Amino acid sequence: MALLMLPAWRGPALGPLLRPLCSWADGLLHSMAQPGTWDRFYTQQDTAGTPSHFNWFFDYMAISGLLLPALRGCGPPEPNPNPTRVLEVGCGTSDLSLGLYRDSPHPVHISCVDVSPVAIKSLHRLLQEVPPPRHPLSQLHLHVADATDLEGGGFGDGSFHLVLDKGTCDSLLRCAQGPSQARRLVAECLRVLCPGGSLLQFSDEDPDARVPFLEQAGAPGVTVQEVGHLGGMCYYVYTLCRPALETPTTVALN
Ligand SMILES: C[S@@+](CC[C@H](N)C(=O)[O-])C[C@H]1O[C@@H](n2cnc3c(N)ncnc32)[C@H](O)[C@@H]1O
Repeated sequence: MALLMLPAWRGPALGPLLRPLCSWADGLLHSMAQPGTWDRFYTQQDTAGTPSHFNWFFDYMAISGLLLPALRGCGPPEPNPNPTRVLEVGCGTSDLSLGLYRDSPHPVHISCVDVSPVAIKSLHRLLQEVPPPRHPLSQLHLHVADATDLEGGGFGDGSFHLVLDKGTCDSLLRCAQGPSQARRLVAECLRVLCPGGSLLQFSDEDPDARVPFLEQAGAPGVTVQEVGHLGGMCYYVYTLCRPALETPTTVALN
């Protein structure tokens, strides 16, 4: 395992902020890769007709102190005014990307994708309520797309500085036909990263299982950091960095 790349956690104690899987969500565990499962799930969340965020594990505020520095760390170097390009795979109705869009002091262009049109429709309604972003050039776009086939969704090689996955790889890994789909998800996330970019996976899976899986899926270097504990469960962030291109100078120096 390589050295940790993320800044040390300096946010609030995560205990009260982390959200364990509810018993009704446990029922999802065996059907997470089935078409329609997530549409039914988000339809149930939206029965009152007023959309609200559903956050797997924890919400944006719980990890904003980790995400905002990571966002800055992998974006274009200062004083480049170009936006940092971010992709969230399997966004559901989480407030993660909306929080980053709202709070980033630097321009961000965020694309959120989810296979569930119901989730994307709800998130679109929630986006209408978000105050203007802190940086006037920031943008956020929502797409119904299969994150295991981002190419089919029109996302080209090397398009993003940062890819975020909170619970999506976990959900694919937890069902019978999942592991092959999870490998495709990781491969696609790495393909769309630009050199020097990072994929962050937020997960409750133990490093003993997740690190070998990620390495077998082709991840060039995996680091792991604990995000917090709740109810005896530990939550982690796995960081996969796409190596920066070597310049002729650095090659010569090495
Ligand atoms: C465990 S939930 C996590 C949702 C969200 N990231 C959060 O933190 O609340 C998994 C999400 O992945 C989405 N998903 C599952 N398979 C997908 C796929 N192949 N492509 C895109 N999204 C997918 C589901 O619709 C669901 O919203």
